Amino acid sequence: MQRELQQVVVVDAVRTAFGRAGEKGIFWKTRAEDLCTPLLQALLERNPPATPSMVEDILWGVTNQVKEQGGTLGRMLSMLADWGWSVPGCSVDRMCAGGLTAVAMGVNHIAAGMADCLIAGGVEHMGHIPMGFLRDPHPRSEEVMGDSSAFSMGMTAENIHDRFPEITREMADAYAVECQKKAERAINAGKMKETIIPIEVELPDGSRRVVDKDQQPRPQTTREGLAGLKTPFREEGRVTAGNSSGLNDGAAGVLLMSEEMALRLGVRPKMRWVSTAVAAVDPRIMGTAPAPAIRKALSKAGLSLKDIDIIELNEAFAVQALHNLLTLGLQSDDPRVNMWGGSIAYGHPLAASGPRLVAFLAGLFKENPHARYGLTAMCVGRGQGYAVIWENLIH
Ligand SMILES: CC(C)(COP(=O)(O)OP(=O)(O)OC[C@H]1O[C@@H](n2cnc3c(N)ncnc32)[C@H](O)[C@@H]1OP(=O)(O)O)[C@@H](O)C(=O)NCCC(=O)NCCS
Repeated sequence: MQRELQQVVVVDAVRTAFGRAGEKGIFWKTRAEDLCTPLLQALLERNPPATPSMVEDILWGVTNQVKEQGGTLGRMLSMLADWGWSVPGCSVDRMCAGGLTAVAMGVNHIAAGMADCLIAGGVEHMGHIPMGFLRDPHPRSEEVMGDSSAFSMGMTAENIHDRFPEITREMADAYAVECQKKAERAINAGKMKETIIPIEVELPDGSRRVVDKDQQPRPQTTREGLAGLKTPFREEGRVTAGNSSGLNDGAAGVLLMSEEMALRLGVRPKMRWVSTAVAAVDPRIMGTAPAPAIRKALSKAGLSLKDIDIIELNEAFAVQALHNLLTLGLQSDDPRVNMWGGSIAYGHPLAASGPRLVAFLAGLFKENPHARYGLTAMCVGRGQGYAVIWENLIH
């Protein structure tokens, strides 16, 4: 039997505001599932005539699948959204790229004809379930990964500084300041409003509030301020709270359809899938892996970086973002990269960040109708990189 792949489109992409993890976080009293269900509902409400009965699967990225994030959270979400029992779901783990992998798996499902409409996304409540919680690494893990530094993402960032001393702390701090400035400009210009779904939550002090703004950005960041910060991962290190993504709570989700179904329903898709690639590197420098994944995704698409008008590169740490840009032959301030700022400013609730990148790219495509191709890419703990290329459909 010969079959053609279906074209796959992003109809919409939304997220919660991102909170700081911990007792002072806006989502300290909100469960991970309750960050996700408003997104499912909003994705359909914003895109009539899409209805729950059309959603053929929910693929949800979650890194630490225990406690409230366990029990196949993806399956629970449709029921918690009051969509009844007939919408299936699953959870997906590729650590930080769990959500982006879920989106790409959704693309595969639709392309292969397994579904015409599904929702993919990700969540991480790092306040309730800290990184590495209850993990029981195999006794050979250190040996096969090189050494124990591969377990600590902050140490992997220090390792990149060690191996590539041309990337200095000053460069990392300058990159972080610029990221905060770009985020401040985007937030002040109202760019976040279109994709953040406001949700009412109980705050740590017991009051209730509708949360629609990110808690993490620090617009007052200066290079002088950053220069004075401690290096928590290593004495005399270079990685600080200011040039790292933070510890955060948040969720993001994407409504995917076959292009044929979107046209039939009359919904206006934002972008079309072009190619996906995953790559793996030495886990001790996991943050370097987006570059090979990006090269692979470009090659699969028959494109070069020159063809890419907008680049959404997740910033786990400034040093790894810089390493990827320089490896790819780009300038550290390439104007196509993270135009609205990145995870250093907004925060990085692990598996939620991939679909957050998709939401940013869709928003940037809308703002830049002449842009044709865009890229979403990120690094992954244990040494992986993930990249997806998209084509702008908003002309
Ligand atoms: C780096 C890290 C350990 C910092 O955690 P933290 O100590 O809870 O961070 P905080 O937000 O409290 O910041 C620490 C200090 O730096 C200061 N700070 C943080 N960002 C700042 C900025 N942009 N400008 C000035 N000061 C800043 C804070 O005010 C705080 O100061 P204080 O100690 O005087 O209160 C944590 O964010 C982390 O682990 N990040 C990486 C997460 C990760 O690995 N993700 C996966 C990636 S693959």
